[in-house]
Amino acid sequence: MECIVRDVSPTDLSYISELERNIFGSDAYSIHYLYYLYNSCIFFKVALVEDSLVGYIAAKAENNKLHLITIAVASKYRRRGIGGCLLKLLIDFGRFGGFNSIFLEVSVNRPYAIRFYRKYGFKVVGYIRHYYSDGSDALIMELPLK
Ligand SMILES: CC(C)(COP(=O)(O)OP(=O)(O)OC[C@H]1O[C@@H](n2cnc3c(N)ncnc32)[C@H](O)[C@@H]1OP(=O)(O)O)[C@@H](O)C(=O)NCCC(=O)NCCS
Repeated sequence: MECIVRDVSPTDLSYISELERNIFGSDAYSIHYLYYLYNSCIFFKVALVEDSLVGYIAAKAENNKLHLITIAVASKYRRRGIGGCLLKLLIDFGRFGGFNSIFLEVSVNRPYAIRFYRKYGFKVVGYIRHYYSDGSDALIMELPLK
């Protein structure tokens, strides 16, 4: 299965919004917020398989760190290395760009995502109570790049 990664374009945002809703439910980013991310993220890529958008990753630059805002892969394409490929590209981008680290928030109710980040070296550095709309807590995870 060949997967191509390219920069996001504005025409991708409605499909990303649909994937967000399917995956994150009430915590999904709205199309308006995705436009804001399009304009404010230093790194926003999509993964394509046979011309279909199957995954995406977006990160902002914040005080010499990269803040991973969202990463997702459509359910039927998971466990094929696409998420890992997107995350590795962000890590390379951060190292090459001289950023100190990458950090993110992840729900304590997403153990598979926590395992995913651990696989790439992220460690838990903090905890935010009631971070999500359903009242669930978030872990803050970080990967030093230097
Ligand atoms: C997290 C996510 C992006 C991973 O994408 P993916 O394409 O499935 O990831 P990969 O195939 O590159 O997996 C890499 C490694 O992560 C870990 N991993 C990923 N999904 C896992 C799962 N369901 N169970 C256990 N480990 C998992 C494994 O170590 C895996 O390596 P392996 O397949 O060699 O065992 C994807 O599951 C997803 O979109 N989930 C819904 C959205 C989400 O939770 N995003 C993160 C919010 S902070």
